[in-house]
Amino acid sequence: MSGKTILVTGGAGFIGSAVVRRIIECGDDRVVNVDKLTYAANLANLAPIEGHPGYAFEKADICDGGAVGEILKRHQPDMIMHLAAESHVDRSIDGPADFIHTNIVGTYQLLQAALDYFRSLDGPRKEAFRFHHVSTDEVFGSLEMNDPPFNPDTAYAPRSPYSASKAASDHLVQAWGHTYGLPVVLSNCSNNYGPYQFPEKLIPLIIIRALAGRNLPVYGTGENVRDWLYVDDHADALLTILKTGHAGETYLVGGNAERSNMDVVRTICAILDEKFPGSPHTPHENLITLVADRPGHDMRYAIDASRLRDELSWEPTINFEIGMKQTVEWYLQNQAWWEPLLSERYDGERLGLGANGSKKQ
Ligand code: NAD
Ligand code: TYD
Repeated sequence: MSGKTILVTGGAGFIGSAVVRRIIECGDDRVVNVDKLTYAANLANLAPIEGHPGYAFEKADICDGGAVGEILKRHQPDMIMHLAAESHVDRSIDGPADFIHTNIVGTYQLLQAALDYFRSLDGPRKEAFRFHHVSTDEVFGSLEMNDPPFNPDTAYAPRSPYSASKAASDHLVQAWGHTYGLPVVLSNCSNNYGPYQFPEKLIPLIIIRALAGRNLPVYGTGENVRDWLYVDDHADALLTILKTGHAGETYLVGGNAERSNMDVVRTICAILDEKFPGSPHTPHENLITLVADRPGHDMRYAIDASRLRDELSWEPTINFEIGMKQTVEWYLQNQAWWEPLLSERYDGERLGLGANGSKKQ
């Protein structure tokens, strides 16, 4: 599959930028990154490949079907990977409108533009075309501790505005595949972590607050369980699914790393204790504070990724303990990346940091 043009939506976000970097660093494929540059985007995530001749950026909103259609016509991609979305559950609870608009209406507009474009293709390019929709395990709802993990036949049961909007987008993608013959492939992945994750999500938020000696907010009892996958592994899985996955199929992607939130936070604390034995905040565990639970908080997500392993021979390579050490190290080395986000583009109140990033208890 050398020398293809892959259009990636949301390529300036956390996972999208890992995908874009990987495509450019891995070979001779080209990338067109279509991103609206919301608060969650950061072009600094793409600094390692900026200026590469195989990389093009188009600032556009996927809800603007006309603009997307024009970009497709101009760049003539061989494949589309759709990652653009509003992605944070807490924000979806505070303000669902953007989630409905981008995740549902935006996916619809993108599908229509992609279908028009697909119909304009012929021969081997049409046969090889793929629309890869990147989704979340949260569409399957919440598991109890002893339930078997989600598998591709698990019924949809989303429970937050975020997961409901992603579930709707999955249904639209499947409908466009089934009804109009658009060659779609879907993947539903568990929680990602790693470099360049916006510090509203659990892992970067805890690392940054622990470094500042602030309290570490754990929702409810801390018993809620997530499966964690290192973001570069996810990017690798996505490219495997794009290139070798079967049209019409759904693949579940997971990290074989179910951990309670309390375990995750304690892991970060232990890494920091080891790195900074003389810190006044050591032991960092003393900073852990149970806070009010998230409304409707899903108890557990878990993944049965056997289809991906058995059919496409893909398995994660980075275990949770190693990935967490690498992630903490990255945030320590890259304060210049995250510090401006606390003050300039993000409501520091939610992080418990003042509007200008100053610390307050
Ligand atoms: P993110 O919030 O870090 O990035 C989203 C990107 O999409 C940003 O660059 C943003 O500017 C862009 N975007 C948002 N609205 C847009 C619009 N209307 N038009 C064009 N671009 C727009 O998200 P992420 O964590 O990188 O997640 C990427 C995708 O993967 C999402 O679809 C998400 O649902 C899915 N996913 C995420 C996780 C996770 O743990 N983060 C897990 C499984 C699946
Ligand atoms: P998050 O990173 O927001 O991802 P998601 O909601 O998509 O799983 O949260 C991961 C888990 O951590 C989730 O169970 C909520 C919990 N959490 C906290 O306990 N404290 C926090 O400050 C945050 C942001 C999340």
